Amino acid sequence: MSRIEWTEELSVGHRELDEQHRLLLHHYNLLHESLLHDTPEVTGQTRKRVLAALLAYTLEHFDAEEHYLELLGYPELERHRREHHIFREKISAITRDVQEDRIVLSTSLMKIMRNWITEHLAGFDQEYSRFAAEARGRGRVGDAPVTPNG
Ligand SMILES: [Fe+2]
Ligand SMILES: [Fe+2]
Repeated sequence: MSRIEWTEELSVGHRELDEQHRLLLHHYNLLHESLLHDTPEVTGQTRKRVLAALLAYTLEHFDAEEHYLELLGYPELERHRREHHIFREKISAITRDVQEDRIVLSTSLMKIMRNWITEHLAGFDQEYSRFAAEARGRGRVGDAPVTPNG
C-alpha cells in the first residue's frame, strides 16, 4: 500500500479540475498516513474525521466534474456518472460502517479505494480530457469554470 502521487500524466487539461484531483489525492494520502502511524495523536477519531473529509471532497468533486461534462456536451456522461455512482456508494458505505464502529479501516479497504481512484483518474477522466481537447481544437469550448452555480 502506498500513497498516490499526482503526476502530469493525470492532468485533464483543466486547471480547476486538476487542482481538485490533487486535493482528492491529498485527502486519500492523509488517510493513508493515518493508517501508517497509529499513535496516540492519530486515534480512531482522527481517522474518522479524515475519512469523512475524503468522502465529502469526493462528492464535491464528482458534482463539479459532472457539471463540467454537461457543459462540455460530453457524449459519455451517463457512463461517467455511473462510475462515480459506484464509487460514491462504496465510499459512503465504508465511511458509514467505520463511523458506526462496525468495521475498522484496513489496508485492504484502502487498496479498494486506491485502485478505484487511480483507475478512474488514469482511465475515465483521461477519456473526457481527450474529448475536451478535441472540442477545444474545434473551437467549441474554453476553460469553463466547473463549480456549479459559481
Ligand atoms: Fe470522474
Ligand atoms: Fe475526476
